[in-house]
Order: sequence, then structure tokens, then C-alpha cells
Amino acid sequence: MRLVALSGSLRARSSNGAVLRSALAFFDGPATTADIAALPHFNPDLDGEGATPPPSVAALRTTVAAADALLIVSPEYAHGIPGALKNALDWLVSSGECVDKPVAVITASPSPAGGDHANAQLREVLRMMTGRVVTGACREIPAISTKIDPTAERVADEATLNELRTALHALTAAATAAATYGTAATVPTAPTT
Ligand SMILES: Cc1cc2nc3c(=O)[nH]c(=O)nc-3n(C[C@H](O)[C@H](O)[C@H](O)COP(=O)(O)O)c2cc1C
Repeated sequence: MRLVALSGSLRARSSNGAVLRSALAFFDGPATTADIAALPHFNPDLDGEGATPPPSVAALRTTVAAADALLIVSPEYAHGIPGALKNALDWLVSSGECVDKPVAVITASPSPAGGDHANAQLREVLRMMTGRVVTGACREIPAISTKIDPTAERVADEATLNELRTALHALTAAATAAATYGTAATVPTAPTT
């Protein structure tokens, strides 16, 4: 089981980066964090049939294609998705690497709402891309600035760590079910007698 993570924050001391690293610690398997900072602005002229994608776009597509599940961790900017992250997702729309891929969306904010607007928007965008948003693996984390260690390396708050553990287990279960039962979405239930 292979996971790829995307962070919506490009900041060096990002609290969402801390959430991402702490979440990945609960994933039992190889995980990669894709670099979205160097992607050019999405331009359909560079994305048409027969076009050769820019190298950073090709690398992103290869990384996402090789993954069994996708973890997105992001702040909210102006009640929306950070531009760098939306740009990365736009590059993945027509190439289809997110199709049927189980996805967890986690937003973290210093505000009490935990980035709820960006979280809802991300889930909508990913559903439109026919990714499989795993509701039980999605989280909105409020007051994040009080929950990370002083170096912004990791989450320090036990309750939040438990939430991340539960979320990553739900994502792993969904990816395992998808790998086992195909893209029919639901895990068969045991017959009743
Ligand atoms: C331009 C800008 C707009 C922001 N808008 C929001 C917002 O709408 N909602 C919110 O909860 N936080 C907002 N914030 C605060 C971010 O959530 C906060 O800076 C957060 O720590 C950024 O995440 P990071 O530490 O991972 O970079 C905004 C920050 C910036 C710089």
C-alpha cells in the first residue's frame, strides 16, 4: 500500500506540514510527499492531447499514479483552497490519476472552524475529479497553533494525534478495500442467515 501526500502550505514552518508529518507516522507503508511548489500555473494549452507536460507536472502525475491513496493536508486562505494546491489538482484533472483513488482531506487552521470552507471545497473538487473521498478519514483541525510543537515539526496534542491515527486507519482501510474488491466502492457485507 503506497500513499502520496500533498500539502497546501508552502511555508517552511507550516503547521499543516506538521500535521502531514504526524499523520504519515500512522501510515504503515511507503509514503511520498509530492512537491507542488515548482509546478507552473495550469494552462490547458500545455495539457492538450499530444502535449508534453512540463517535467514537474510529469513527476507529480507519476507519483500520484503510483499511489493507492492520497492524503491532502491544507490551510484555508480567504475561505478557499490555497492557489498552489488548486493548481496542482488542476494538473491532475484531465490526466486522471485521481480517478477512483481513496482520498483523505485534512485542513488545519488557527481558527475555531479548522478550515471548514477549504475542506468542503477540496472534497467537492476531488469528487468532481472522481476521486473517492473517504469521509471517515477527513478532519478539520481547529486552533492548530496551540497543538504543534515549538519547532512546528510535529503535532504535540494527544487528542489531535488520536484523530490523525483514526483518519489514517480509515484511509488505509478504504485503500485496502479498493485494492481487494476493485472500484465498486463498497466492501461486501457478510450474508445474513
Ligand atoms: C492570505 C491568508 C488568508 C487566510 N485566510 C484564512 C481563512 O479564510 N480561514 C482560516 O481559518 N485561516 C486563514 N488564514 C490563516 C491560516 O489558516 C494560517 O496562516 C495557517 O497557519 C496557515 O497554515 P500553515 O501554518 O500550514 O502555513 C489565512 C492566512 C493567510 C496568509
